[in-house]
Amino acid sequence: MAANKTLLILPGDGIGPEVMVQVRRIVDWFDRRRAVGFDILEQPVGGAAYDAHGTPLTDEALSEAMDADAVLLGAVGGPQYDNAPRDKRPEAGLLRLRKEMDLFANLRPALVFDALIDASTLKREVVEGLDILILRELTAGVYFGEPRGVETLADGTRRAIDTQSYTEAEIQRVAAVGFELARKRSNRVHSVEKANVMETGVFWREVVTDLHESRFGDVELQHMYADNCAMQLVRQPRQFDVIVTDNLFGDILSDCAAMLTGSLGMLPSASLGAEDETGRRRAMYEPVHGSAPDIAGKDMANPLATILSFAMMLRYSFGLGDDADLVERAVQNVLAAGGRTQDIVGPGMEAVSTTGMGDAVLAELDRIAA
Ligand code: IPM
Ligand code: MG
Repeated sequence: MAANKTLLILPGDGIGPEVMVQVRRIVDWFDRRRAVGFDILEQPVGGAAYDAHGTPLTDEALSEAMDADAVLLGAVGGPQYDNAPRDKRPEAGLLRLRKEMDLFANLRPALVFDALIDASTLKREVVEGLDILILRELTAGVYFGEPRGVETLADGTRRAIDTQSYTEAEIQRVAAVGFELARKRSNRVHSVEKANVMETGVFWREVVTDLHESRFGDVELQHMYADNCAMQLVRQPRQFDVIVTDNLFGDILSDCAAMLTGSLGMLPSASLGAEDETGRRRAMYEPVHGSAPDIAGKDMANPLATILSFAMMLRYSFGLGDDADLVERAVQNVLAAGGRTQDIVGPGMEAVSTTGMGDAVLAELDRIAA
């Protein structure tokens, strides 16, 4: 029997803990019913860690994350932390995890489930069958560039500075992941930047072009400006297969792509590091949605994005494609049978609770695995 996988669970803030309760039931199901077993650790992160320990990420949580086979995170943030210093804010814990674990490749698939087409604000014919993957660079760019800060000028007025910076290696490694992913999909990559305005944009385009020529000539590559990409995402989203872009553009474009699918409550993500000599890579999985403080604690939140993030873990960290398919199929069937949380409920349908959605996915897993 294979050794158990160590899984670190970071429920976080807002709706994070309640969606994570449902995901744990799914993890337990796999533990009982399938070949894969888990040793589960749990730590607070974000505001929850700040409240308990005065920091959004404890050293203990970070070290467990570095050693775990995979990390599953709920969400971080809340209005009560809006005035905390930047390094104490919940988001700082998340950014530190990404940086220290060196999770440079952030996969954000945007897939339209047939049952949810009418939940999209876009017309059916625009989004039907949509399946795109945004690959966001996650450990560099303006999120981490130095110098940054607010300074007082000689005349007594102030100015704020952020720095966009990318090294050749940082661009190459994420672009390589993009080309590799495209080969397993529809073999098309859009590389997105602002080469018309930014030095980093010109450089990004040059590095991606060279890499394409030297190693990935079989993949179809197109360059696109980020503003045009935002427009094309709502105009004709099915032209895209893989979009590879920097940290900030990726943050913005992935929210935009997410909404094409009907709800932010549906979208999972995977953040991956580089493979080491043994083929192991650090990885963290999390829903694209945030902590949704307005509905937290009400058993209303949609747990599917986090459940689907667990499916991505099975696929990308453990190579368990069949098990991942099982989760995705269960979710699809539940939706097809009319299972809806309030964020995706259609006219004449009744919404189920967070727990009710967990019940439905578990019942469907039982049924299809029988
Ligand atoms: C995301 C979020 C984060 C980001 C926040 C919470 C720091 O918006 O993962 O997309 O900006 O990266
Ligand atoms: Mg975001």
